[in-house]
Amino acid sequence: MKETGTNRSCQKGIGDKFQEETKYTPEKIGGHSLDWNRMPERYKNYDDSFLKVPLPDPEIRRTADIWDVVSRRRSLRRYASRRCMPLEQLAMLLWATQGITAESRQFQFRAAPSAGGLYPIETYLMARDVEGLEPGIYHFRPHRFDLEFLHKGDCSVSLANAALGQRIVADAQTCFIWTAVVERSKWKYRQRAYRYIYLDAGHIAQNLYLAATASGLGCCGIGAFFDDRVNVLLGVDGVEETVLYLASVGCL
Ligand SMILES: Cc1cc2nc3c(=O)[nH]c(=O)nc-3n(C[C@H](O)[C@H](O)[C@H](O)COP(=O)(O)O)c2cc1C
Repeated sequence: MKETGTNRSCQKGIGDKFQEETKYTPEKIGGHSLDWNRMPERYKNYDDSFLKVPLPDPEIRRTADIWDVVSRRRSLRRYASRRCMPLEQLAMLLWATQGITAESRQFQFRAAPSAGGLYPIETYLMARDVEGLEPGIYHFRPHRFDLEFLHKGDCSVSLANAALGQRIVADAQTCFIWTAVVERSKWKYRQRAYRYIYLDAGHIAQNLYLAATASGLGCCGIGAFFDDRVNVLLGVDGVEETVLYLASVGCL
């Protein structure tokens, strides 16, 4: 039989197998106890040799009409590439995506939900033109509300090339890069963790879209990229920690 595009996409592959094998069923569930001694660190910190850049306090008293923001949210790809993004705006976006919004005795909750409260997602930034930030790659620490300066130099073109040449990445004032520290979630959920990691990233990205819309900025989620090129740019191994998703943010 001649193969058509339609039945090619019906062929079973690794994705189908993953979906099947990570289904919860009454037979499979249970029988797994948590090893609290091996619980992974919840926060990633680079050592003191990396410069720490404090972020301005987020102005959380600001108001925006949620219904209006949802109705106006769009993926925007044209940016005023010569403008500089105020650091206050970037701080608001970081807070809206992964900021700590509630604390109990030993636990901190963030702006976006996370399966089991395990928070496997790390946020990096490619900063091209943000007030007060030298161009380069930064790592965001929610618990300190600061940035760690990992790599100096304008990486916008390298990152755009890694994103299959998408110009929006090079034009954006900044680009969010989300990775997962897989073991944080696998420790509890084993292979099903991969489902949750991607769901977590989706929640975070939607918060970014909404916060960008409310701030008068343009945002676009980017799923098309050469994974290992981005991993190398960040200095992560692509296995224990691996890139999941990007989002460009630019001035309009
Ligand atoms: C997971 C995901 C990956 C995406 N990847 C890209 C991308 O690589 N490049 C791009 O220009 N837009 C990308 N988009 C944006 C979509 O094209 C956009 O959401 C869609 O066209 C609907 O338009 P809207 O967001 O304005 O409602 C992506 C969106 C999602 C949710």
